Amino acid sequence: MTLTLLQAWTQGRDRLKAAGVDSPVIDARLLVEAAADARRIDLVTDPYRVLSDEQRSRLDEYLDRRSRREPVSRILGRKGFWKILLQVNEHVLAPRPDTEVIVDLVLNAMPEGRRFDLLDLGVGSGAILLAILAERPAARGLGVDISEEALAVARENAARLGLEGKAALLRGDWTHGLGDDLFDVVVSNPPYIASAEIETLDPEVRHHEPRLALDGGPDGLDAYRRLAPEVLRVLKPGGLFALEIGHTQADRVLRLMREAGADEVALHKDLADRDRVVAGRKKALGNGEATR
Ligand SMILES: C[S@@+](CC[C@H](N)C(=O)[O-])C[C@H]1O[C@@H](n2cnc3c(N)ncnc32)[C@H](O)[C@@H]1O
Repeated sequence: MTLTLLQAWTQGRDRLKAAGVDSPVIDARLLVEAAADARRIDLVTDPYRVLSDEQRSRLDEYLDRRSRREPVSRILGRKGFWKILLQVNEHVLAPRPDTEVIVDLVLNAMPEGRRFDLLDLGVGSGAILLAILAERPAARGLGVDISEEALAVARENAARLGLEGKAALLRGDWTHGLGDDLFDVVVSNPPYIASAEIETLDPEVRHHEPRLALDGGPDGLDAYRRLAPEVLRVLKPGGLFALEIGHTQADRVLRLMREAGADEVALHKDLADRDRVVAGRKKALGNGEATR
């Protein structure tokens, strides 16, 4: 029996729905498009195109994996973020729309043509660093991650986007080993899930995202306690920082940053109106203070 694009989509949707996937319509469409080498518009303009045997078995494998709750981005090996497309694998967090709040905030603060040095702590796939550098040709960036495997993904993404000359990537434990270099902007989306909570998350996250990208220690705040003083240490006076947070962590992270001495500390919401980013500045130098 033949299988058309439209049948593949509706049957795929039903299969994913039965497996408990919470976005079966979109996911089935994405998997059909990828398996059948079809564009989105083909599902509307050419719905009766018949899939080849090879395309059918590829789709079958994709649906099988998705039914076992592997995320679409992992099955396809790529994920869109801001205006760029990133390669992803089991060693990096699949970048999320929530994190785009940081990109938006930095781009607003740093107009086009501005030269600045950007540091991304816990760079993962390179999402934040590369999305910003792609839009600010005069900027340079450094991405740090403790995972060598994640850095390999970030390096590949930088090269694919033609940004390898502007983005340095370094293995490190947050800012340790960075020496005396100071940055105009420091961003981070650190692990912030409380360890015990990880087992309660959706299988897509629990089984497929790297633990290093999720586990924020007993109360989820371990990374912020380290980052609060370290971020301020590596910022230039007056420099900007932006940290992603879990939506229940605002008060505690705001306090940590204020207690570390940050200025203009404020909370920013995501598109779902949830607390998502704590941003602020390192105090600017007063009259007579020396720069490092
Ligand atoms: C939540 S993921 C964020 C990845 C990427 N920045 C994004 O927003 O999609 C956190 C990243 O921090 C890295 N990481 C965890 N502990 C670290 C540490 N002590 N020093 C540097 N990076 C660390 C993880 O390997 C992971 O890539």
